[in-house]
Amino acid sequence: MNLTLKIWRQKDATSPGAFVTYEAKEVLADMSFLEMLDVVNEGLLARGEDPIAFDSDCREGICGMCSLVINGVPHGGHRGTATCQLHMRHFKDGQTVNIEPWRARAFPIIKDLVTNRSAFDRIIQAGGFVSVNTGGAPDGNAIPVPKDAAESAMDAAACIGCGACVATCKNASAMLFVAAKVSHLNLLPQGQAEKHRRALSMVRQMDLEGFGNCTVTGACEVVCPKEISLSFIAKMNRDYGVGALREMTHGQ
Ligand code: SF4
Ligand code: FES
Repeated sequence: MNLTLKIWRQKDATSPGAFVTYEAKEVLADMSFLEMLDVVNEGLLARGEDPIAFDSDCREGICGMCSLVINGVPHGGHRGTATCQLHMRHFKDGQTVNIEPWRARAFPIIKDLVTNRSAFDRIIQAGGFVSVNTGGAPDGNAIPVPKDAAESAMDAAACIGCGACVATCKNASAMLFVAAKVSHLNLLPQGQAEKHRRALSMVRQMDLEGFGNCTVTGACEVVCPKEISLSFIAKMNRDYGVGALREMTHGQ
């Protein structure tokens, strides 16, 4: 199939950007979306032009690097599918495809379709860990984990930190990401001791990074490639609320 691509090109964070039109010819239905872009880039390189910069790493839905808004929807709008798992069979011959970077103040553009998502790393650094004493490794079965808690924590831990939830949110809120990262630790017995402090620290770092507030539109859940549930936001709000109350009454 042949496609017309309108791709956002931007030299760096401070330069103005614009859509540039490219023709993608003889695209195979079995190609992934990123392979199609690789072929376009090979053509640009062969002509001595600057290739289109875009992020990817694992190309199998694990790392969270791929980050394209395709025809207005982060990851292209196929349920539970990251950009790297999207195949060209979902497009039609002759179709025009718009490709943009994540757009959020907290994710500044580095070049073309590549954004700086280190704000997520700083949120994790603020509380996305369990403190342990140094010494020998504890026995694996020393802390029994109830089955429900293990399964729910695993669901939250599936978040790959891609940022699609932010990109689709009209408020550029990172609540689904932060809720997933808080919940996967707070649900486990090992995470209980620090659960209120964790929720407070990570939410406060999220606010410092310039992400917007959550107004529960649910758009994040729809585009999330790991189908992280909005219910984790409710869980995090509870931990945050109790933590804030304790802070006010006990100063801790
Ligand atoms: S919650 Fe979903 S959309 Fe948001 S960062 Fe995690 S995997 Fe990506
Ligand atoms: S490239 Fe790793 S999730 Fe898409």
